Amino acid sequence: MRRGSIVRMVVYGVLAGTVASLVAVAVPWLPTSASEQMDRIVFTFWFTTVICIGIFAIVAAIIVYCVLKFRAAPDDERDGPPVHGHTGLEIAWTAVPAVLVTAISIVSAIVLAQNEDAGDNPLRVNVTAAQFAWSFEYPAENGEGGLRSGELVLPVGRTVRLRLNANDVIHSFWVPEFGQKSDAVPGIDTHLVITPTRIGSYSVVCTELCGLGHSTMRAPVAVVSEEDYDAFIARLASNGGGSGEETGEGIFASAGCGSCHSFEPAGTDSQVGPALDDLAGAAENAGLSLEDYVREGIVDPDARIAEGFQAGVMPKTYETTLTDEQLDRLVQYLVEGQS
Ligand code: CUA
Repeated sequence: MRRGSIVRMVVYGVLAGTVASLVAVAVPWLPTSASEQMDRIVFTFWFTTVICIGIFAIVAAIIVYCVLKFRAAPDDERDGPPVHGHTGLEIAWTAVPAVLVTAISIVSAIVLAQNEDAGDNPLRVNVTAAQFAWSFEYPAENGEGGLRSGELVLPVGRTVRLRLNANDVIHSFWVPEFGQKSDAVPGIDTHLVITPTRIGSYSVVCTELCGLGHSTMRAPVAVVSEEDYDAFIARLASNGGGSGEETGEGIFASAGCGSCHSFEPAGTDSQVGPALDDLAGAAENAGLSLEDYVREGIVDPDARIAEGFQAGVMPKTYETTLTDEQLDRLVQYLVEGQS
């Protein structure tokens, strides 16, 4: 090849690489990382992407160069020259991709192993997914579990190992800024390791289509200082989080009622299910006391379906997942909150 051809090919390569790099770097493809695991995922992403950009630039440059250089003149009807393989080139385009793909595999394997390693003493939080809410169970200060909340609060810098489970159908746990994602499957425990690095507020997003309320199945996540985490646990313990001494408001939140229902005292505004602020008329039509009507709506949601809503959407499991006492408090909370 003449020197001028090579120079031109290099120019095309640099141009193609510049355009591809601009698209890659100028667009914010990934959320800002808030965990060590996400940092590693971002590194793997860019490691792979940079290799791809390099390969793209070389291939694009050769194509553009060949299209311009070897195009036939309009009146040229002759066959092209007979060109056979080039052993050196073939070895190169086999060996170079093999090395690159191996490098990507090694980096990915290391990152995967590191991202699954929870270390010696992780904080252990149980995550339960149910249509259409998340609930979180924390270890109490004495090391025993049982403190429940509808919010995921994590101390910054401490590795947490989440144990995921689902009550009904398959859901998927994902906090974009944490990077890690895993399905929550009924009957199986799955695990996720997260080491939060940035104090702030995030959101758990369900990423497995799980029913009508799927798109509203979110839960707040707060990454806080160690002291704030201890205060949160102390507050949960004093509220009796999940231990039967919880308030009706706490049960409404941890059972996930607000993911589907609007209820003014709880400050929720979802419209997957009927609003709960004005049930007196409906109770009267049903010929029930307000309390019985509310209770029936929780334990046997398909007994009566409000106009404009469908049967079979609300889980029928609350009679078993809530204790009698929790159920009483929840009913009381709803009855007292009527406008
Ligand atoms: Cu749970 Cu989608």
